[in-house]
Amino acid sequence: MLLRDKVAVIYGAGGAIGGAVARAFAREGATLFLTGRRLAPVEEVAKDIVAAGGSAEAAEVDALDEQAIDRHLQSVTDTAGHLDISLNAVGVPDTELLGVPLVELEVERFSLPIAAYTRSYFLTARLAARRMVAGRSGVVMTVTSIPARTGTPLQGGYPPAMAAKEALTRDLSAELAPQGVRVVGLRPHGIPETATLREAFAPRAEALGVTWERWQESLAARTHPRRLSTLAELAEVAVFVASDRASGMTGTTVNLTMGSLDD
Ligand SMILES: NC(=O)c1ccc[n+]([C@@H]2O[C@H](COP(=O)([O-])OP(=O)(O)OC[C@H]3O[C@@H](n4cnc5c(N)ncnc54)[C@H](OP(=O)(O)O)[C@@H]3O)[C@@H](O)[C@H]2O)c1
Repeated sequence: MLLRDKVAVIYGAGGAIGGAVARAFAREGATLFLTGRRLAPVEEVAKDIVAAGGSAEAAEVDALDEQAIDRHLQSVTDTAGHLDISLNAVGVPDTELLGVPLVELEVERFSLPIAAYTRSYFLTARLAARRMVAGRSGVVMTVTSIPARTGTPLQGGYPPAMAAKEALTRDLSAELAPQGVRVVGLRPHGIPETATLREAFAPRAEALGVTWERWQESLAARTHPRRLSTLAELAEVAVFVASDRASGMTGTTVNLTMGSLDD
């Protein structure tokens, strides 16, 4: 088991990526403290993990609220004694953000994802790191996506938000790695089994001028294996990155776009 005796906190654990990674972390022996904006989806994931013999607790934590994050982390370290892994897999609903050309986009709508994604990643990373540096050990992780690195139409402030998160990963690492804390992001391609990908397509469907099926095919055609990746594949990489086997990895975002985006 790669994560035996590791204590992990996941933000957005009721979501597609947060939930898949939580299950994989549990399978590898981690003790999980799962959080989300709404409790019910997080409890579902925790229940599955416990039923499978793992250890998981669910809590309602708004990952934009500094006090709520801090209170929760304090309860985690009071209970578990330490903190090894922090994963921010929070997602702002795309339907509220996408589909409007930049020249027509209101500044508030443009700024919203930039403010929300960077605030949430900054707060969760900073508050976790304060606990981790005490033990000179730990890993801070998050999730970004292809628009962090390449121009894409009709995505409003989402691409700058993703680019900012990747910059923050580098900067956090530059400050924290000397104190024993690694910082690593994951950049998956669109994952068709998640509702998120369809939500990212729907507001742009008319402008893109293709069907949902044709759009997925065109994304897949740009990858080297000519297919999109799965949640399970992402979760396996997340396990490795979170484990001590990845001790040589920090200050980077792992490119999981299967060739569609060069490093
Ligand atoms: N799915 C993909 O294909 C894909 C590919 C590349 C990158 N990504 C990125 O990966 C991240 C997660 O994607 P996903 O597909 O897992 O999204 P998702 O299924 O929509 O999950 C996002 C989760 O974040 C939670 N959340 C939102 N705001 C929150 C807040 N303030 N505090 C706490 N939790 C909050 C949501 O909880 P509620 O439901 O309770 O609001 C939800 O459970 C996003 O940044 C997305 O852009 C996704």
